[in-house]
Amino acid sequence: MTDPAPVPQPFPPRIFSGIQPSGGLTLGNYLGALKRFVEKQDEGIQTVYCLVDMHAITVWQDPAKLRHATREAAAGFIAAGIDPARSILFNQSQVTAHVELGWIFSCIARMGWMSRMTQFKDKAGKNSENVSLGLFAYPALMAADILAYKATHVPVGEDQKQHLELCRDIAIKFNNDYGVNFFPVVEPVIEGAATRVMSLRDGTKKMSKSDPSDQSRINLTDSADDISKKIRKAKTDPEPLPETLDGLKDRPEARNLVNIYAALAGQTPEQVIADFAGAQFGTFKPALADLAVAKLEPITTEMVRLMQDPAEIDRILGAGAVRADALARPVLDQVYDIIGMIRSRPR
Ligand code: AMP
Ligand code: TRP
Repeated sequence: MTDPAPVPQPFPPRIFSGIQPSGGLTLGNYLGALKRFVEKQDEGIQTVYCLVDMHAITVWQDPAKLRHATREAAAGFIAAGIDPARSILFNQSQVTAHVELGWIFSCIARMGWMSRMTQFKDKAGKNSENVSLGLFAYPALMAADILAYKATHVPVGEDQKQHLELCRDIAIKFNNDYGVNFFPVVEPVIEGAATRVMSLRDGTKKMSKSDPSDQSRINLTDSADDISKKIRKAKTDPEPLPETLDGLKDRPEARNLVNIYAALAGQTPEQVIADFAGAQFGTFKPALADLAVAKLEPITTEMVRLMQDPAEIDRILGAGAVRADALARPVLDQVYDIIGMIRSRPR
């Protein structure tokens, strides 16, 4: 894949990011994405955040569960500090520009590019003949999510880096093919101590809402008691914490817990190691559990409160969709014009 020098961008800064409502939100989503979405909002840049329900159905979703998970994720965003008056918060299927541009990008992206996507290979596994066509096309829709808003910066966890490179390639190819400077070449924003939160059961695997073991992850809906238990039972090694970060090199589970602590406390991993040098896990784990409960419990409580009024959540998503549509529709109108589609329907 091409890795061009950054193009000077005449585009005003705008943040876009998305999360799939394909299950509950995890601590990985919170630290890798959500917490940073809030920081970006608070920096005063225009922020557009989307629950990507169309992406979720690339693998089977029970309709009632999808509806519930979408509302719950919206509640999680708001509970974590996304203010629907300052950020645009909506679910993808309510703004049809995404799938329209997604199709156009399916005609820009090349089979070879898509075949190299490691997330597709991981998700399809040995079953690649039997997964949905949508799962293969997934990154083209993701590029459309971003570029329908001409977003310039996309905060995500480490696992999305390759998809964002593809988004850059699609923008560049579109601009070249049509001889325009229409789409920005987006910058991934992968920052902080916890860009890849690992499973609590296996420090070499990503913490994921689709892991069969609930012990492997902390869910934003977990009780204080569950959070504490999961952290106390997290897999570790018998050594105490080292004096320097270097000492964590071949200790993925220990490294993960230190990173989680740092991200939750708003510190660097170096500071955490300085404070806990030589500590046993018998000391460190309870400290981490207390910190996690202190940070996550208010979010969980607020999520539960918001979920008592699903109609209000739907109203917020609908209002967000109207605002999102107002940004994306003029972009799509221009795209149709650029690519030579007749648009003569009376309005
Ligand atoms: P997903 O749940 O796959 O839709 O991911 C939504 C966002 O959360 C993306 O920006 C991911 O990169 C991020 N994310 C998901 N899991 C993790 C994890 N274990 N560590 C860090 N970020 C994550
Ligand atoms: N693919 C992302 C994930 O699984 C979710 C996503 C869809 C997204 N569209 C996006 C993230 C646009 C950032 C921008 O995590």
